[in-house]
Formats: sequence, structure tokens, C-alpha cells
Amino acid sequence: MLSYLLVLTVTVTVEAQRIQGEQKDDSCVCKLSSSIWAFPTVRFEGVQKQLQTCEENLIKFHNKDSNVQMPKMELSLKNIKARLKPFEYLDTNGLYNTLHLQQLMQELDQMYYTARDAHNKNPSKETNDLLKELTNAKEDVQNMYKNNIFNLETMKTRLRDLNNRVQTCKTIPEDFRSTCHQRIMSNISSPVVTKLNSISKSYISGAWGRDAKRDSKERYWEHCLVSGNQHGSTVRMYNSYEDFMANKNYKDENIASSYSHKNAVQGSGTILYDNTVFYQCYSTAEICSFNITTQTTKRMKLDGAGIENKFPFCYYSCRDWTDIDLEADQNAVWVIYATEENHGNIVVSRLDPLSLNITHTWKTQLFKRSVTSTFMVCGVLYATRYVNTYQEEVFYAFDTTTGQEINFLSLPFEKVSPGIANLNYNPVDRRLYMYNDGYLLAYNTFN
Ligand SMILES: *[C@@H]1O[C@H](CO)[C@@H](O)[C@H](O)[C@H]1NC(C)=O
Ligand SMILES: *[C@@H]1O[C@H](CO)[C@@H](O)[C@H](O)[C@H]1NC(C)=O
Ligand SMILES: *[C@@H]1O[C@H](CO)[C@@H](O)[C@H](O)[C@H]1NC(C)=O
Repeated sequence: MLSYLLVLTVTVTVEAQRIQGEQKDDSCVCKLSSSIWAFPTVRFEGVQKQLQTCEENLIKFHNKDSNVQMPKMELSLKNIKARLKPFEYLDTNGLYNTLHLQQLMQELDQMYYTARDAHNKNPSKETNDLLKELTNAKEDVQNMYKNNIFNLETMKTRLRDLNNRVQTCKTIPEDFRSTCHQRIMSNISSPVVTKLNSISKSYISGAWGRDAKRDSKERYWEHCLVSGNQHGSTVRMYNSYEDFMANKNYKDENIASSYSHKNAVQGSGTILYDNTVFYQCYSTAEICSFNITTQTTKRMKLDGAGIENKFPFCYYSCRDWTDIDLEADQNAVWVIYATEENHGNIVVSRLDPLSLNITHTWKTQLFKRSVTSTFMVCGVLYATRYVNTYQEEVFYAFDTTTGQEINFLSLPFEKVSPGIANLNYNPVDRRLYMYNDGYLLAYNTFN
């Protein structure tokens, strides 16, 4: 690990002087130096600045010659910028992630194809230079693999994959798979519910939904975080959809005596299953369950889980206090988090709702900070990313029943505000529930 970092440091110091991105003689000189891929030792601010310059030049280039369109290029630059963020974090913590290099490599390929199309349609010195730079960058990333500097990673990857296969082989009680016909979701409707939370628009963080247990009473619940959008101590319960929509006949159940009590809620990952609230306990890497029927609290430690904004959801802008995300399906509660051991990538564990014991744990290759939110449907983990203020997209899935990752999903859905505090799926009505900055939305989903 140390020698790896040293090698890169030397390379980067030499190459850093070659990074350029500027406008020259009315043309776009967009030199993506190969060293921007030499993570994690590059100075990220510098790289980000280069990308920005590159982007600005693309815009100027367009304005000069509107015949040449490179929208995909812009999008790629934007994506890469967003993806630099996680590396910044990894850098400061001495962690890094091979997968991200691969993903960046794919984006690099995309940029290359776009540039090549532009070049074929309208060849110029600029497009030619751009193609050369992109080729160099690709070669450099490939060399990083070839020189075997990821040895340690290779081994860890093998171990992780083995672990996942083992988890998948383990039986799950009352085989939940039989209730799910087709594995992967194919569509998400327009919002079928849109309303403001019942308290105030200023409560931008929280969660809401419907009791997720099969054959449970139709209960709707709403949970808003107070105290800097970090903590909560009550959950608002409604006995019907009509009451929920009208903000009436509700009952505020106390989960803890105050929002700074050790049993108080931290963060927006909360879920209701079997009239029991599952959530991250106040400032600890522990899961709490509060059974409203019996008014009792249980706790369970989540080994290695990053908390206190170590691994929040971050795709576009970080959403504080989203380190631990709970989900529910027909007969289990799931917890989604990230560990240093898995390089900040998402880990998903299945809990027995009554004992709170962890029965299974899978490790994905998806960096938790590179997604906006997650939810579980039929043992499949889905992750979303920000498209724009009014649109979000499911782009990734991890199927715990096969251990397979699916990277090519594109299921867009609407929202009314940019930020998502919580997404959870309810297997009873097959709806997806979203807490969208103070707004409560729900969607129908289709397999
Ligand atoms: C998906 O949902 C959208 C919006 O409700 C609809 O217009 C579209 O036809 C659906 N697509 C499929 C494949 O069902
Ligand atoms: C909550 O308590 C009720 C009543 O004892 C029990 O039937 C139910 O299984 C409990 N649920 C959970 C998740 O603890
Ligand atoms: C839960 O874990 C504890 C401690 O490991 C164990 O004693 C208990 O039997 C487990 N309960 C269930 C229902 O698996």
C-alpha cells in the first residue's frame, strides 16, 4: 500500500505540470492529462479546476461553432466531476477503490466515442488533440492495472465475491423469493401521492410510509427530524390513508423521552415494520427497534458501520445523517450502510426483525457516497442518482439472491425538490415512498 502511494506520488508530481485546459486561438484545447486518473494522491481541487476549465471551453467552443455538438461530452465531464468527490474523501482517509477507476475508465471510453463521432463529422486539430489525450489517459489507467499495483485489491475483491456467494447460498426462512415473480423492477410511475409533511416545510429531513409487514393493519407513519435535521423522538401514526392525507386523527408515539436520549432516532433511515420503528440509535453504530405495541426498545450493534456523516448518501450534494438506511420487505428488515473495510462501499445486511440478529451480510462494489438513496425490493438493492431538480434515476441494483450487480439500469422518476432524505419500498402495496426535502411522495412500481 505504501509503496503504491509513493509510486503514484512521483508520477503525479512529474505529470501534474502537464495538466492543461485552456482556450487558445479561438479553439478548444481540452487536455485531459492522464495524471488526473492517478488517484488518490492528486490534489483534487486542481483536477476539478481543470475539468471546469475544460467544460467552460466546451461551452465557448459550442458558441463559436454551433454545428459541432458534444452534449455527451458535457455530461461526461459533469459525471466525472461528481465522481471526483468520493476520491477526495478516499484520499484524505487513505482509502481508494479499484471499481471507481473502472467506472471512470468506462466514462473515459464514452468520452472517447463521443469525441470520435464529433471528429468524424467535422475533423479539426482540436478534436484530433482531444482524441490523443483521451487515448493517453486510457493507456495510463490500463498501466496502473498491469503494473499490479492493485494486488491487495485483487485479493480483497476475491474475498468479497466469495463472501457474497456464501451469503446467497444461505437459506432465508420462509423463502421470500417465491413472492417475487420477476426479479428486476422495470418501471416507476408518476407520483401517486404528493403532499407536504403535516408539520412544516422547514422539516426537510425525515421518512414516511406504510407499515411494511404483510397482513399488517393499514398504518401510515410520518417521521420528521428536528435538531439540525439530525434527531427525532416521535413518530406520527395514522390509521387510514384518508386521515393521513387530511393530517387528522393522528397519534404521536414517543420513541424516546427526548431527541437527545440514547434511544432517540438519528438520521433519516427510519422504517416501520410490524408496528415497530427501526432506526439508527442516537449517535452510535447501533440499530434500535421500538415496538409501539409493547413500548419496548431493543438495540443491536452494527459492526464497522461508518456513522456521523462518514458514509452518507452524497451523489450530488451530501445529505447529512444518512449513514444508516433501514428497509423492510415481506419478512425481514434490511440495513444499508458502508464500512471502511469495504472501502466505503455499500454493505447490506438482513436482520431478523424480532431478535434484531443479523442473518446475512453482502458487500457490494458501489461507493455509498456516489448515490442519492437506496431501497430494497424482493431482496434486490436499488440505488438512485440525481439527474436534475425534478428527476431522479435508479441506475444500479444488487441482487442478493444471485450476488450479481446490475449496472445498466435507467429507471427515471419525478420529484418535486432536489434532495432525498429517504426512499423505502413497501411490499404490501408495492409502492415506493419518498421524503423529498419536506414533501411526501409515493409511486407505483412495476416488475
Ligand atoms: C413506464 O411508466 C411511464 C410513466 O408512468 C409510462 O409512460 C410508460 O409507458 C411506462 N413504461 C413501461 C415499459 O411500462
Ligand atoms: C411487537 O409486539 C407485538 C406484541 O407483543 C408482537 O406481536 C410483534 O411480533 C412485535 N414485533 C416486533 C417487530 O418486535
Ligand atoms: C441472536 O443472537 C444471540 C447472540 O448471538 C443468540 O444468543 C440468539 O440465540 C440469537 N437469536 C436468534 C433468534 O437467532
